[in-house]
Amino acid sequence: MKAILYNSAGALRLIDDVEIPSISSEQILVKVVACGVNRLDLLQKAGRYPPPQGESTILGVEVSGYVHDIGDKAAAASGLKVGDGVCALVGGGGYAGYCVVPWETTVLIPNGISVLDAAGIPEAYLTAYSALMWSARMRQGESVMIHAGASGVGTAAALIAKATGSSQIFVTSGSDAKLEACSKLVNGDIHCINYKVKNFADEVLKATNGRGVDIIVDFVGASYWEKNLRSIALDGRIVLLGLLGGAVTECGFDMGTILRKRVSLVASTLRSRSLSYKAELCREFKEKAFPLFTSGILKPVIDKVYVIEEVEAAHERMGSNQNVGKILLTL
Ligand SMILES: NC(=O)c1ccc[n+]([C@@H]2O[C@H](COP(=O)([O-])OP(=O)(O)OC[C@H]3O[C@@H](n4cnc5c(N)ncnc54)[C@H](OP(=O)(O)O)[C@@H]3O)[C@@H](O)[C@H]2O)c1
Repeated sequence: MKAILYNSAGALRLIDDVEIPSISSEQILVKVVACGVNRLDLLQKAGRYPPPQGESTILGVEVSGYVHDIGDKAAAASGLKVGDGVCALVGGGGYAGYCVVPWETTVLIPNGISVLDAAGIPEAYLTAYSALMWSARMRQGESVMIHAGASGVGTAAALIAKATGSSQIFVTSGSDAKLEACSKLVNGDIHCINYKVKNFADEVLKATNGRGVDIIVDFVGASYWEKNLRSIALDGRIVLLGLLGGAVTECGFDMGTILRKRVSLVASTLRSRSLSYKAELCREFKEKAFPLFTSGILKPVIDKVYVIEEVEAAHERMGSNQNVGKILLTL
């Protein structure tokens, strides 16, 4: 099969004759139609995000495609069969013609979503859903600010926040064109802040009469810490998912504000979670969110589709912050 491998210098290369992996009785072999590109792929090839132990070293943590083979226990537990169109969250191995996936994190593609586009659902949506619904325990009527609002995870979070009845949604991005795309995505029901032009804390406080937002979904970390603390409301929750802006703050850690505002800081990393956590997340997401895909309230937000031979261009697009939503690779 085809697969993308990388060397210690982070250079990618397409190999045509990689052996098709075999499955256990609890696994499924998916003939891959598409895989999603994620920031962590860029980190992994640069040696800064090793795959969890036991996972494929081939890049790619989400795929869509058709069930090609299925183990006995997987078939009995999932009800899936050969030929079904599925999408799956995986620990690795997505940039390949065939991918081994656990049945627990593999789902039938929701009605109305193409097999290709379904590759843009698992990582972005499961991360956004777990951040808002599990980590932040978001309730209807709460306000939320989503940093890197045009990212794959950010766009999914904005759509989930809207579907959940968020009272105010703020998104930040460094590009007006990206903010316009975010606004269109949720039919204009959103406060857009270009963080390169405006101080997002000032904007949030202005728009909330000084109250702040209930929830912040943050991928940026250190460089946003002080402004996040200014922006968060009493009893607010900050969900930290990434460190695009560094890990060490220059301002000092302001515990006074955390105590006074009773702020919860929750961090999460999806890939390193246990299979049982991911299984429960997939089960709940399928039950609660899949009907919203079928009715068009949620959708995979696809930025651009590349063929696997163009993987370098796909990574370049993501690495230079050009994408709005998900970049996909087709096999
Ligand atoms: N913890 C988890 O479970 C988990 C799971 C999945 C993803 N993630 C993290 O979530 C983030 C988004 O992932 P993705 O794959 O959806 O990313 P993506 O589509 O590549 O989007 C990332 C965006 O972040 C913005 N950005 C980059 N550097 C920045 C900086 N220094 N300060 C502020 N904004 C910056 C850029 O948008 P602008 O042009 O608007 O600046 C960029 O396009 C990544 O950090 C990823 O590692 C975490």
